Amino acid sequence: MSIEVAALVKTYGEVRAVDNLTFTAPSGKVTGFLGPNGAGKSTTMRMIIGLDHPTSGCATIGGRPFSDFTNPVREVGVLLDAASAPSRMSARTHLRWIAQAARIPRDRADEVMELVGLGSAASRRIGSFSLGMRQRLGIAVAILGDPGTILLDEPVNGLDPEGIRWVRDLMRSMADEGRTVLISSHLMSETQQVADRVVVIARGRLLRDMPTKELMSNVPGDDTRVRCNDPGALSRALERHGARVRREDSAAVDLFVRGVTPETIGEIALQSHVVIHLLTPVAADLEDVFMQLTSAENLQTGRTAE
Ligand SMILES: Nc1ncnc2c1ncn2[C@@H]1O[C@H](COP(=O)(O)OP(=O)(O)OP(=O)(O)O)[C@@H](O)[C@H]1O
Ligand SMILES: [Mg+2]
Repeated sequence: MSIEVAALVKTYGEVRAVDNLTFTAPSGKVTGFLGPNGAGKSTTMRMIIGLDHPTSGCATIGGRPFSDFTNPVREVGVLLDAASAPSRMSARTHLRWIAQAARIPRDRADEVMELVGLGSAASRRIGSFSLGMRQRLGIAVAILGDPGTILLDEPVNGLDPEGIRWVRDLMRSMADEGRTVLISSHLMSETQQVADRVVVIARGRLLRDMPTKELMSNVPGDDTRVRCNDPGALSRALERHGARVRREDSAAVDLFVRGVTPETIGEIALQSHVVIHLLTPVAADLEDVFMQLTSAENLQTGRTAE
């Protein structure tokens, strides 16, 4: 069942959290729902599952509003806020309780706990769980009813590298089985690895809705990463030659240089008496695309990021 969002609007007082948003998450695909903090991802997801009422527009799953589903746990798996699980209950009790309410065999609770790697922690109180363990429990709840549609808000939040890979594999296999998978993230590089399609929003508005490959191919990947003994001097020399130089943040050591070849960078470094420690081309990634998109959005609206 595909998820359809049509001209969705949500305002909170002055804030337009979601602003005329339209997109489809088709079945058989992982759709990455991307945007910076405060872009409106969680608000949109809450409206899809009926936790928030749209100011206007609508969201449906398989053509029906979420409120029409009589046994949603078995049809639509949801992870919104992993911190909301009851802290006094054990993971097993929590899952069995949800299973019982949804008429799912109780063995399934133990099965999904094994699946998400919580088998040995099943009888522990949820209150004693780490962030990553809560996240795994949230995913266990989402997949408990073996749903055909799954919405996960920031599923890899707090997970270790093994957990991130596991979530990615799980999403992939669910989509390959023909299910609809919508996952939100502000981690572009993570999403790039698993999403077939990406929907990018900023300030509640749609910026892009396209296959991940297409989005990636729009960006020239001609950065060169440079590590050297005097980044300040090399930056100035490169800029005098018309190169664009940036750092990931002001404290970062490595320079990312665009507009000149690695050979030219080497020659300029030699002339400037700078010692190069590392010089390597970097392929464009979704992080770059995302930064470009969202900064263009800021320019357009004349507003700065919070
Ligand atoms: N209940 C609420 N009351 C008032 N404003 C809200 C409420 N919920 C969300 N907002 C505002 O709506 C905007 C979108 O928030 P939302 O949580 O949907 O963003 P997000 O994309 O999920 O961000 P993040 O990456 O930080 O999770 C923000 O400006 C937020 O302050
Ligand atoms: Mg959010």
